[in-house]
Amino acid sequence: MSSKAESWGSRMGLILAMAGNAVGLGNFLRFPVQAIQNGGGAFMIPYLVCFLLMGIPLLWVEWATGRFGGRFGNHSTPFILHELDPKRSVWKYIGVFGIFTNIAVAAYYCYLESWTLSYVWHSIQGTFLGQSAEQVAGFFGAYVGLDSPIEPIGFWLVCLVLNTWILSRGLSGGVEKVAKIGMPLLLIFGAFLAFKGVTLKSGEEGAIFDGLVGLNFLWTPDLSTIWSAKIWLAAAGQIFFTLSVGMGSIQCYASYVKKKDDIALNAMSAGWMNEFVEVVLGSSILIPIAIGYLGVDQVVELTKNGGLGLGFKTLPYLFTQWGPLLAAMAGVAWFGLLFFAGITSSLAMGTPVMAFLQDEFGWKRGPSAWMFGLVILVLGLPTVLYFNEGVFDEYDYWAGTVSLVVFALVEVILFAWVFGMEKGWNEINDGADIRIPRVYRFIIKYVTPVILGAVFFGSLPEIYSKLTSPVNGYVAAARFLLLGLFLGISLLVYKAYKKRLLFTKQKA
Ligand code: TRP
Repeated sequence: MSSKAESWGSRMGLILAMAGNAVGLGNFLRFPVQAIQNGGGAFMIPYLVCFLLMGIPLLWVEWATGRFGGRFGNHSTPFILHELDPKRSVWKYIGVFGIFTNIAVAAYYCYLESWTLSYVWHSIQGTFLGQSAEQVAGFFGAYVGLDSPIEPIGFWLVCLVLNTWILSRGLSGGVEKVAKIGMPLLLIFGAFLAFKGVTLKSGEEGAIFDGLVGLNFLWTPDLSTIWSAKIWLAAAGQIFFTLSVGMGSIQCYASYVKKKDDIALNAMSAGWMNEFVEVVLGSSILIPIAIGYLGVDQVVELTKNGGLGLGFKTLPYLFTQWGPLLAAMAGVAWFGLLFFAGITSSLAMGTPVMAFLQDEFGWKRGPSAWMFGLVILVLGLPTVLYFNEGVFDEYDYWAGTVSLVVFALVEVILFAWVFGMEKGWNEINDGADIRIPRVYRFIIKYVTPVILGAVFFGSLPEIYSKLTSPVNGYVAAARFLLLGLFLGISLLVYKAYKKRLLFTKQKA
């Protein structure tokens, strides 16, 4: 039912776009903070186990379901999932998650993305030169506190328009081009900063510890707390967020892959590229530099109440210790890298929404892109205006954490048990340029669902306590907004389905 056939320009473009989808602010801001909050070395083992047993299998499942759905002209999860088992109508509504998450995450993610633009600007301007550590941290507080609202809101609007405009140019003409420019730049900037981080020497340029102190903190395995459920949940959550699995954006990108094109190797290329960026670059910048200047204890303290701001509150000050020229360069590299990481991810959040409007309601690319921008404007505004009241974190919790687990759990059961592992395995291996170890057939069928189930049930106490503890009016309103969004999309899916039924009847 698609109106106009979109497709990827080249294999390289597809892999870079998929890697760009995965590589995001999660790799550079969320990962280090999660690692610090969960004890550094204690975090890495659960993290790697979750990557191998949950992340990789989900990548294959999502690429395979996406390409499969695309064959029938479906590019968003409600009808991609429907295609796997057309007899039952429930899957469509599970698929609603794959649109809901993207919209709700984009609503706060674009705001975060816009901070990076502003900080690039201030790094060039030299705003942070000569400021004390407190003043730099205070700058961030004033920024999100909207002390002078014009700038934060202005940068945010620029960011929204930019996203929308790129999306309106389509996959090969917009998204793929940005990924081809942004990903290499990100790697260059990242390598530069990682080099500075790893070679940091105590006593030089104001640092009090070697960069190695931070790296040791992260990479010395710590088995004493390894059986803590909290650490496993955090590790699983990070794997979800960073790989963009359980969200519907991989399925959407994969649905534009041609029928016989490889997915097995492509999925691994994009997935491992993400892990390289996260584990190698993501751990060699924020952690060693922040710990090199502040010490482990103070950095742990700084991440106690929320942590996405850490990279904004600390690094610009530390950069100023390197002298004005290097400070400007490092600032542009760091925040520029974050910007490219962010925009290639937020573009991925836009595509499922656009695909849904195009497939089901015959919208054109341009209007569906602007519709996405408009929805993000409306839903994002509360995260901008009431950041300090907790609206931003509330979106992140329900859409960026809980929904992913629910969606992935149902999806893998649908794939391995309802669609069937026999067909599923063939689907993954069709056109494959690598031989996937057969043990993954077993893992996808048994291990991944069990881990996902454990993560889900393990999270229930926290979900319950969130729902039963008192919240302020802004947070309560945010919950209603999110619920309304979910119900609204469900209604649209219902309408789309009715439309499809009518269409098949008319044809018969
Ligand atoms: N993986 C991205 C990151 O690490 C986040 C992301 C990309 C995402 N696409 C998504 C989150 C879709 C939710 C929905 O930052």
